[in-house]
Amino acid sequence: MTKIASLEIDGKKYELPIVEGTEGELAIDIKSLRATTGGVTTIDPGYKNTGSCLSAITFLDGEKGILRYRGYSIEELAQKADFLEVAYLLIFGELPDNTQMAKFHDDIKAQSHVDEDIKKILDGFPKSAHPMGVLSSLTNALIAFNPSSVNVDSEEEMYQAIVRILGKFPVLTAWAYRKRSGLALDYGDDNLGYVDNFLKMMFKKPSGEYVSNPIIVDALDKLLILHGDHEQNCSTSTVRIVGSSHAGLFASVSAGINALWGPLHGGANQAVIEMLEAIKEDGGDTKKYMAKAKDKNDPFRLMGFGHRVYKNFDPRAKIIKVAANEVLNELGIDDPILEIARDLEKEALEDPYFVDRKLYPNVDFYSGIIYRALGIPTEMFTAMFALGRLPGWIAQWKEMRLRKEPIGRPRQIYIGENYRDFKEINDR
Ligand code: CMC
Repeated sequence: MTKIASLEIDGKKYELPIVEGTEGELAIDIKSLRATTGGVTTIDPGYKNTGSCLSAITFLDGEKGILRYRGYSIEELAQKADFLEVAYLLIFGELPDNTQMAKFHDDIKAQSHVDEDIKKILDGFPKSAHPMGVLSSLTNALIAFNPSSVNVDSEEEMYQAIVRILGKFPVLTAWAYRKRSGLALDYGDDNLGYVDNFLKMMFKKPSGEYVSNPIIVDALDKLLILHGDHEQNCSTSTVRIVGSSHAGLFASVSAGINALWGPLHGGANQAVIEMLEAIKEDGGDTKKYMAKAKDKNDPFRLMGFGHRVYKNFDPRAKIIKVAANEVLNELGIDDPILEIARDLEKEALEDPYFVDRKLYPNVDFYSGIIYRALGIPTEMFTAMFALGRLPGWIAQWKEMRLRKEPIGRPRQIYIGENYRDFKEINDR
């Protein structure tokens, strides 16, 4: 039976349909609210209660700690699939068979280069530039080198746009790092897997040979899978809203990178390591920092803790915590900040401030410890998140365009001055 919500405004009653998702989520459909009520709207800063779209890509249940891509659990995907398979799943809706997978990888490889003139743009950045700024700028610059707009109704054009960005993005990410490290740019090797090739472009020494390390490749693969998509978070909503004006895929993704950069979103992974380092330098007194995090007069927050949606645990954090232990053991690394992270987590999980507010470690709490063990420098962490999130952004952009969603344009409630007469400057 169709469910209906009743609304009463100044004694007048309205009925609003309720939309039900495949997992039983209910949403009051307010599409006709302004028209039927004569202009009444809703207000929801931060969109904490607002569903912006119908989507068939990612399901998450914040109370139960469930995350699924296209119906498959994140735990199973992280354990059994590789990143490119998951990218295919997110973007096209089904896991690929061997033939589809081979073609997908070949088509991406055919696009795994950027115009040589991109190097001139890269050269213009100071070495100190943050890789996220470089990455978003270069992604945007790709528009100039690939100016034709995509006819989204053509399956082939859509497919080509997808493999184009999947091919070029790792090159830009690795080059942003090499620029910062002062290393000559590397062109990768088509004989390597997607993630292995990215690692080669990052780390191959100009005079040495690249030797791939399966532990490092597997660990990075898993991290990228865990970051693959997360429904309508800040950067994904940005990608969808920019794309809703029919801006192209490069432009939409470039905007998403900027949204991801902020420390309350993807930038938290860098902020976590900086925080853990600072605690270590300060003598390792975790209790002092717990007190700071709880002090409302102190702007300090426990980075890597809390989540808008997860109010029980972040399933990605659970997987990453185990992986961090494994990777450090396998690589024979003893990182003192892992101990500090474990202490902070233990204290927070027993502290009423965190328990009452349902603040748990999120995906970013332990990811930086793995990145560090893999030799990835702190300022590259958020760029790694972007590389992992790319398939999600593509899938969401594609879904938004194919569903012919209208341009994103929220309303506001004006709280400024009422009408007043203009005064000439000499009369003010
Ligand atoms: N440390 C201390 N207090 C916190 C924290 C924290 N990390 N996170 C939330 N709180 C408190 C907050 O002060 C507020 O307290 P009160 O009710 O007394 O005012 C309460 O918990 C609710 O917080 P909120 O800011 O209203 O919650 P939100 O849903 O708007 O924000 C968040 C979610 C992730 C932005 C926030 O928890 C945060 O800033 N965490 C630290 C940054 C971080 O780790 N971000 C990564 C998010 S996961 C990866 C991603 O998707 O990018």
